[in-house]
Amino acid sequence: MDEQSVIKAYKRYARNYDRIFGKIFDHGRRVLINKMGFTAGQRILEVGVGTGLSLPMYPPDISVVGIDLSPHMLWVARNYINGNVPGTRCLSLMDAQQMSFADNSFDKVAVMYVVTVVPHPEWMMEEIRRVCKPGGDIFVLNHFSNHRLVPRMVETALLPFQNLIGFHPRYSMEQFLRQNPLQVVDTRRVNLLGFWTLIHARNN
Ligand SMILES: C[S@@+](CC[C@H](N)C(=O)[O-])C[C@H]1O[C@@H](n2cnc3c(N)ncnc32)[C@H](O)[C@@H]1O
Repeated sequence: MDEQSVIKAYKRYARNYDRIFGKIFDHGRRVLINKMGFTAGQRILEVGVGTGLSLPMYPPDISVVGIDLSPHMLWVARNYINGNVPGTRCLSLMDAQQMSFADNSFDKVAVMYVVTVVPHPEWMMEEIRRVCKPGGDIFVLNHFSNHRLVPRMVETALLPFQNLIGFHPRYSMEQFLRQNPLQVVDTRRVNLLGFWTLIHARNN
């Protein structure tokens, strides 16, 4: 999957994204944001902010910068936050694999449901570690493939359609952590049947 396939896939999803992936993924979004533990004045980066569903969940006095590769998803996000979401919410069209922020720009970084969408997750994670302050917190929420038979069969069936569906159906947490050396603080299962994992890591 490449960047153009992602842009095309999310152009198709944008209009109906909230209806399909809103409520079903909200538990994970809320657990992640509740876990972030904000202090006044901190700068937060949300990578792959999509249609901005998470933005009202942050405290209003915390400034959040959201980036996304899809102009269509960001268009929905801009309309959504316009007047509805209090606080400083700044949205930018940007590739997470090559960010234009200076080193050590953010105290905390959240990445929700993006790791298996971005073409090169290891480039994105390297960038996240660069723009997050040393000792800062990185929160990654994603579905990682597991070894159970039925989910594995579904993942295998979806493999040929990854450009169309806009995500890699098979990517394990072991592979993710091998490719991205993170100091994991803890992990937690979230969402329906605990099929998604929230990883809290420290930027070392
Ligand atoms: C499944 S959606 C998740 C959206 C949102 N985080 C949520 O909680 O619903 C994945 C998002 O990642 C974005 N994305 C994919 N590759 C990206 C990249 N290289 N840089 C920035 N955003 C990217 C997509 O455009 C899409 O909006």
